[in-house]
Amino acid sequence: MDGPSPKKVYIKTFGCQMNEYDSGKMVALLSRDGYVRVEDPDQADLILVNTCSVREKPEHKLRSFIGEVKHLREGGAKIGIAGCMAQHAGDALFRRYRKDVDLVFGPDQVPQVRDLVERAATERVLENTFLDAAEYAFVRDVAPDGAGQVTAFVTIQKGCDNKCTFCIVPHTRGAELSRPSGQILEEVRALVAQGVREITLIGQNVNSYGLKVAGELNFAQLLYAVAAVPGVGRIRYTTSHPRDMGADVVQAYRDLPQLTSHLHLPVQSGSDRVLRRMKRFYRRDDYLRLVDDLRAARPDLSLTTDIIVGFPGETDDDFEQTLSLMEAVPFDGAFSFKYSPRPGTPALRMKDTPVPEPVKKERLARYQKRQQELQLASNRALEGRTVDVLVEGPSKWDPAVMCGRTSTFKTLNFPGGTELTGQTVPVQVLRGFTNSLRGERLDA
Ligand code: SAH
Ligand code: SF4
Ligand code: F3S
Repeated sequence: MDGPSPKKVYIKTFGCQMNEYDSGKMVALLSRDGYVRVEDPDQADLILVNTCSVREKPEHKLRSFIGEVKHLREGGAKIGIAGCMAQHAGDALFRRYRKDVDLVFGPDQVPQVRDLVERAATERVLENTFLDAAEYAFVRDVAPDGAGQVTAFVTIQKGCDNKCTFCIVPHTRGAELSRPSGQILEEVRALVAQGVREITLIGQNVNSYGLKVAGELNFAQLLYAVAAVPGVGRIRYTTSHPRDMGADVVQAYRDLPQLTSHLHLPVQSGSDRVLRRMKRFYRRDDYLRLVDDLRAARPDLSLTTDIIVGFPGETDDDFEQTLSLMEAVPFDGAFSFKYSPRPGTPALRMKDTPVPEPVKKERLARYQKRQQELQLASNRALEGRTVDVLVEGPSKWDPAVMCGRTSTFKTLNFPGGTELTGQTVPVQVLRGFTNSLRGERLDA
């Protein structure tokens, strides 16, 4: 025997990059107490579910997940609910899952996960208070199981100070807080040393990074600083708010070859009337001008976006404006959603007529159908061209097919061996599909 077998943690992650990142940090912290991550909840001593509340559906997913794993408590496993739902509905969840769940904690408690898990050994634990800037400390450990990864997220801020009227995130993640740039660069260096080639800086509104901290870098300066770290091959970031994207960030697309030719720039709607009532603080024309500036700086820039259809009071004409905006840009990809009323958000109190569910459904289907056509056209236009691909590893369905991303964030599959993982190789595009490309290595 080699001593005690390690304790095992299983984490199910819903929601956005923030949650994915937090899950990695929890593994990093728990590994100090001897935990290793497993992919099967049946083997775990600790089962965590990192929840999302941005729309209604993720809440249904939590209920079915708890239903699937709760019997494992009989074998001694502890079950915990973390993340955004635990933040804004922690008390209700703690009561509802009285018999099924040992531990409920919000995103601000991620740095304390070791203590909470220890306490949960002897009592049920609920912890979901927001911490202020003085109390909160970003986790500095890097997940040990991250070695071998080609890409990694690095958080640069937590929370959000915007008040987009549809959005629950300010209630789940609290006030915006920028992470010290020294720590960000330290984490980037540690990840590069582990073999990571592509860094994605994450925050809810990255363009406001550092603005509220005296002497801190702003977001553009942070990009230059990250690009100066030796070994960083590619830099991405998400999410940008169109209102806060400055000329200095646009300039970075001229100066920094490491900055990839892709930007996720959520527009939400093409109608000025709707944008005003969403409190996004930009107009359709501002958005289109920004797109022009960005493309002048980086001609091959690919753009993706988020769209909400059926915001309260959205008329047919408003929706037509969203459709015409997608033609004007056009986008290489979009996450599109039916508006979902969220507790505590200002849109709930608006007196406008809700858009009936069948109308929302029809608008979403129309949007998505056209978006897919545009994506297919954009991907087919690449056929015959040669593009640089950062290889992330073998594809899920065939170990002899490697999968990677272009600088423009398109997925490209091509025949090749695992030794290519982590390398950037030229690949000729043979076929463009709606959501991916297929190609062939030129140097093979
Ligand atoms: N901070 C990011 C977005 C975070 S939420 C930004 O400002 O762009 C991710 C996406 O979920 C949003 O861009 C929006 O399109 C969608 N979303 C948020 N709240 C929603 C709601 N109540 N109903 C439907 N979609 C919503
Ligand atoms: Fe939500 Fe708006 Fe903040 Fe994004 S910027 S997280 S949509 S409030
Ligand atoms: Fe969901 Fe929270 Fe992200 S609500 S989208 S996991 S910030």
